[in-house]
Amino acid sequence: MRKGICTFAAIGLLAVGGLSACGKDSGGGNTPAAEKKAKVGVILPDSASSVRWETADRPYLEAAFKAAGVEYDIKNAQGDKTQFQTIADQMITGGVTVLMIVNLDSGTGAAVLQKAKAAGIGTIDYDRLTLNGGADYYVSFDNVAVGKLQGEGLVKCLTDKGVKNPVVAELNGSPTDNNATLFAQGYNSVLDPKYAAGEYKKGPNKSVPDWDNTQAGTIFEQMMTDTGNKIDGVLAANDGLGNAAINVLKRNKMKVPVTGQDATVQGLQNVLAGDQCMTVYKAIKQEADGAAELAVALAKNQTVTGLGSVKDTESGKDVPSKLLVPKAIYKDNVKDVVTDGFVKKEELCKGDFAKLCTDNGIS
Ligand code: BGC
Repeated sequence: MRKGICTFAAIGLLAVGGLSACGKDSGGGNTPAAEKKAKVGVILPDSASSVRWETADRPYLEAAFKAAGVEYDIKNAQGDKTQFQTIADQMITGGVTVLMIVNLDSGTGAAVLQKAKAAGIGTIDYDRLTLNGGADYYVSFDNVAVGKLQGEGLVKCLTDKGVKNPVVAELNGSPTDNNATLFAQGYNSVLDPKYAAGEYKKGPNKSVPDWDNTQAGTIFEQMMTDTGNKIDGVLAANDGLGNAAINVLKRNKMKVPVTGQDATVQGLQNVLAGDQCMTVYKAIKQEADGAAELAVALAKNQTVTGLGSVKDTESGKDVPSKLLVPKAIYKDNVKDVVTDGFVKKEELCKGDFAKLCTDNGIS
């Protein structure tokens, strides 16, 4: 089937989060006909590598699909690649018109995307790009920018603390997650020049398989042993990994700047308590809304304009992409995350955190 071509540009609209799509019906007019009834299948990766998938992505996606009047089915593979493929098979045979995945690794992700394509189903990579996957669209944040904010955040906190020649440990995300590579690209673009200039000392550097928070604790403990506890700052790739490091540091009666990502309740509480230097807030509502818009366009066989593109480093192809802008969060702007409705004050400001919330303008 031929895709309708949209001729009006939507670049201006993109700045406020709007995309533009239009299609042609079989009669040739620009009317929303010639479309299948949209049914979107979404496969989330797990609920342990970050709480975001169940606490933020699922509800925001549900709300976005409901608002668009689209049927949907959201499942979570719980970190199991076989399960991931089984869910995909069921969705494909069950008649979804669009399949949206957060891959557990590019290999299994690509196999699923190819099956969907062979069945004539539209495909979207949500948050993580599937290398060699050839998805129709990719929706995410600028993940190199996320890493840059983390690197700059760590530098800011070490500078504020007046630490000279700090030893920095790096706890990277999963080696099978393309995002983890991009985050590292971002923070190493900030840290590498410091190491090269002899301003900072490169400490232990390890990737955490599957972003497993428990393993992160074990890995960080080993880093402490290997360095005789001489670690002055921790670049942790997300809040879960950061919290694992913080727990080990606390057991050793140490407090050093630690970074994170996802603006989770736990991460924000660690920031308020001064145990974590910063986190990165990604407005997942925008990501979910963007993904839902693209899913609807795919289901209606419309072409979307106003998108950017990301190069798949394995296939060399450009994937039409919508990339959103992340924001660094320190103690003094934790309130912005609450104002944005991403976390609830009642959840964040429980018990001991009530006073810290008031002190930091969260009311
Ligand atoms: C996401 C992060 C998340 C991590 C672990 C990454 O792909 O972009 O937000 O913390 O996976 O789930």
